[in-house]
Amino acid sequence: MARFTLPRDLYHGTGALEALKTFKGERAILCVGGGSMKRHGFLDKAVSYLKEAGMVVELFEGIEADPSVETVMRGAEVMMKFNPDWIIAMGGGSPIDAAKAMWIKYEYPNITFEEMCKVFGIPALRNKARFCAISSTSGTATEVTAFSIITDYSKGIKYPIADFEITPDVAIVDPALAETMPKKLVAHTGMDAMTHSVEAYVSTAHCDFTDPLALHSIKMIQSDLVKSYNGDMACRDSMHNAQCLAGMAFSNALLGIVHSMAHKTGAAFADYGAHIIHGAANAIYLPKVIAFNAKNETAAMRYAKIADFMGLGGETVAEKVKLLIAYLRKMNDDLNIPQCIKAYGSDSYPCENGFVPEEVFLKRLHDIAVNAIGDACTGSNPRQPSVEEMEKLLKCCFDDTEVDF
Ligand SMILES: NC(=O)c1ccc[n+]([C@@H]2O[C@H](COP(=O)([O-])OP(=O)(O)OC[C@H]3O[C@@H](n4cnc5c(N)ncnc54)[C@H](O)[C@@H]3O)[C@@H](O)[C@H]2O)c1
Ligand SMILES: [Zn+2]
Repeated sequence: MARFTLPRDLYHGTGALEALKTFKGERAILCVGGGSMKRHGFLDKAVSYLKEAGMVVELFEGIEADPSVETVMRGAEVMMKFNPDWIIAMGGGSPIDAAKAMWIKYEYPNITFEEMCKVFGIPALRNKARFCAISSTSGTATEVTAFSIITDYSKGIKYPIADFEITPDVAIVDPALAETMPKKLVAHTGMDAMTHSVEAYVSTAHCDFTDPLALHSIKMIQSDLVKSYNGDMACRDSMHNAQCLAGMAFSNALLGIVHSMAHKTGAAFADYGAHIIHGAANAIYLPKVIAFNAKNETAAMRYAKIADFMGLGGETVAEKVKLLIAYLRKMNDDLNIPQCIKAYGSDSYPCENGFVPEEVFLKRLHDIAVNAIGDACTGSNPRQPSVEEMEKLLKCCFDDTEVDF
């Protein structure tokens, strides 16, 4: 038996934020990040809509990017005092993910962070509050997914919380919130969404319910992402829907080793002054992983189907896979994303000498490969790599060399 879970309601289109006026409840806590929602006036609007719905509103502001366990515990404390029957999270993936974890702790005050991280081990929520997510970035799709990513800074590791219990009750996908994203955020979150769709389509857990979502979102991202990056606001709006469809696909079909590698390399060189940003890491690794996975016949056929759906041409399966890889690399060029770690500057743009020194990379390579194989996303990848293969693959991602194994 398989399960397919999405929010009960999804309000979309310009002005969808106004759906808050129709919510039934007494007390809403509104969780936001560092200030972009306030600066652009969306926080005030959300507060006034909730008040119009007759609710008392409390704010929890300042949730940091890549939220910490401490922030989650602090937010849960505030919830325990305020006793909300609605938790409303608005912003990028960070505040929404943090609020999801606060929700668990609010409902079960004795639960530990370790217990929350047991995959599909969360007890039934919705005894105290329901959850609404309003996304302002176009990539993570956490407004519709069963995931929350929280960082334990004492260990320097990102932990995924995964359970359909934390799939929000309501998602609001209002493109107006995404229009203020800076270009770099558009590029990175957009390629994150493309990776979600492609990995979901070839995942061993894909099904008839996830395939159409994955394919349609790929087509939309193909037609809209680069234009959105270059300032086309109609395409920016369309990307907000596309990433959400991609999220519906991967929340139910899971992901693959592009994400395993991105999770384990992201902060691995933080001591050299930067992170390899999630979406950029995915964009760099995706073409390499396609070449690796395509040695598996079923995966190759499915990549060829993606290429056909995108109208890329080619006669044989092998040709179609090559054309897909070339297309994704061209997207990286158009979005000013480097093709390899060696060329990844500390500002995330392509440069001659990236911020990760080669000798440091080689020294840490084995441990990163072991960690990547142990990542929760590896299990649903269509080809299971050995540690040696994962090391070779990561090396190709460092140097931008061809994957021929
Ligand atoms: N839950 C999931 O399924 C899932 C999937 C992928 C990634 N993640 C996690 O999500 C987090 C990243 O989320 P993100 O990429 O959405 O970014 P984010 O929430 O970390 O925000 C990044 C920056 O962009 C700003 N910002 C957000 N929206 C904006 C807007 N509309 N205009 C201007 N500035 C804006 C924020 O203030 C912040 O400074 C990471 O912690 C990652 O691990 C979660
Ligand atoms: Zn992702």
